[in-house]
Amino acid sequence: MTTRTELLPADAAGLDRAAGLLAKGALVAFPTETVYGLGADARQGEAVARIFEAKGRPRFNPLIVHVPDLAAAERYGRFDDDALALAVAFWPGPLTLVVPAREGAGLSDLISAGLPNVALRVPRGAVAQALLHRFAGPIAAPSANPSGRVSPTRAAHVLDGLSGRIAAVIDGGAAEVGVESTIIGCFDHPRLLRPGGLPVEAAEAAIGRPLAHAPETGSPSAPGQLASHYAPAAALRLNANAPRPGESYLGFGPHGSAEGLNLSPSGDLVEAAANLFDYLRQLDALPSRAIAVAPVPATGLGRAINDRLERAAAPR
Ligand code: TXA
Ligand code: MG
Repeated sequence: MTTRTELLPADAAGLDRAAGLLAKGALVAFPTETVYGLGADARQGEAVARIFEAKGRPRFNPLIVHVPDLAAAERYGRFDDDALALAVAFWPGPLTLVVPAREGAGLSDLISAGLPNVALRVPRGAVAQALLHRFAGPIAAPSANPSGRVSPTRAAHVLDGLSGRIAAVIDGGAAEVGVESTIIGCFDHPRLLRPGGLPVEAAEAAIGRPLAHAPETGSPSAPGQLASHYAPAAALRLNANAPRPGESYLGFGPHGSAEGLNLSPSGDLVEAAANLFDYLRQLDALPSRAIAVAPVPATGLGRAINDRLERAAAPR
């Protein structure tokens, strides 16, 4: 199916148009503070199914439901003490909580893809918040990229991958955080399911103990994480102190090169996360078919950055 994808401004008229399209079951991409999401009304099965079609995404991958606040989240999921502590500390913000789903709360069955749990997120991005308030309903949204590709941090990235396949994208400029939300499961012991925009250390401080890790089942209930994900077309070589002939270079801190881009010349991991997907795209567009990547420390947001780089480098 091809449609003309509308580029909507992030003003009152654009948000009204976006909310109207969502209510009709159409797909609208919108900015959050992490990355752009591909939104659909989470209560309409056909609208949710269109997300999978537009992304070319495997059916079994469950979706995050975006809501404006904790009260709305509690309509769809059951929060234990740890989940409540995390929600109170970090919502709105780059944190997704996977909690036991409430039966009969009105979400499409496709949202949880057969799992007993639901992923809920309260974004802090101003455009996302405004859209949630106008639409006044739960918005299912994966990252707004074709399945397996780098997540979009600008409206133009969304159009690169999905133009003609979705009704609209709201242009809210560059995403502030630049990597996806941290996902924590609170259905047995609090578990880190995906490192992301909220540093793991901050989450552990809020619950007063270390997070367990995702069960290594290889199934999508240990989320998302098909080994090759977030993949640019070029091959990636990680922990490279300098590029080899023919490689472009993604630098960090003191490791930089005239042949490439530097995620953060000053070694700031927050700046590096915000630049990561945009710079991978820019280097991917160069004629060289290989990208060497400087070492990035694995603390704070560096964990999410290294996670995405390892997946982008995985054999496919
Ligand atoms: O920052 C973000 O989280 C962005 C923005 C748009 O909110 N969204 C995002 O969605 O990254 P997506 O679909 O690209 O990644 C969501 C991950 C997937 O790996 C999925 O498997 C996992 O969340 N997930 C969703 N529901 C789940 C559930 N019920 N149980 C376990 N994992 C779940
Ligand atoms: Mg994604």
